[in-house]
Amino acid sequence: MGKVYVFDHPLIQHKLTMVRDVNTGTKEFRELTDEISTLMAFEITRDLPLEDVTVQTPVSEASAKVLAGKKLGIVPILRAGLGMVDGILKLIPAAKVGHVGLYRDPETLQPVEYYVKLPSDVEERDFIVVDPMLATGGSAVEAIHSLKKRGAVSIKFMCLVACPEGVEAIKEAHPDVDIYIAALDEKLNDHGYIVPGLGDAGDRLFGTK
Ligand code: URA
Repeated sequence: MGKVYVFDHPLIQHKLTMVRDVNTGTKEFRELTDEISTLMAFEITRDLPLEDVTVQTPVSEASAKVLAGKKLGIVPILRAGLGMVDGILKLIPAAKVGHVGLYRDPETLQPVEYYVKLPSDVEERDFIVVDPMLATGGSAVEAIHSLKKRGAVSIKFMCLVACPEGVEAIKEAHPDVDIYIAALDEKLNDHGYIVPGLGDAGDRLFGTK
């Protein structure tokens, strides 16, 4: 079963409180989301494998470490996921970036993909699917499914705020996927918003309210 990790680093928690604040405007919201994403990227990469190399310092030869293992891919779910990409790329600049776009079918209310573009070496990469909010989990479950259909075998999901409904949906549909969050909130309300949440992340990032 997939594990759930809550990043309780004080800087992440402090900045998350600021993005929750209804009085935080678009510019600051975008900057804070970017900063939180960088901090979360630092935490999520904690277990990346290393290998030994030899490096020549100005003083002597040294045995040292470099990253080993698979290369990374970041996949934002359009559109709010875009707000997390640059923050992650600050720490992992060589990562490739795929995109998944989904719309909600008006009759079935189920998410349907309308755009998917992934790096060509899908099987070779460790993917981090990102979206600031994990609400019903419908989009996240479908986005992960889109990656798996195209051959992805190693996927993590990272978001700022999750609720129990969304976490359960991913766990049930994709038990192999670990979930990384900054906060686990109380519930979903009748309009599909996370409570207390931070409102509509896409609108707040792009100023489209
Ligand atoms: N999407 C958002 O942007 N906010 C929520 O609270 C739920 C889904």
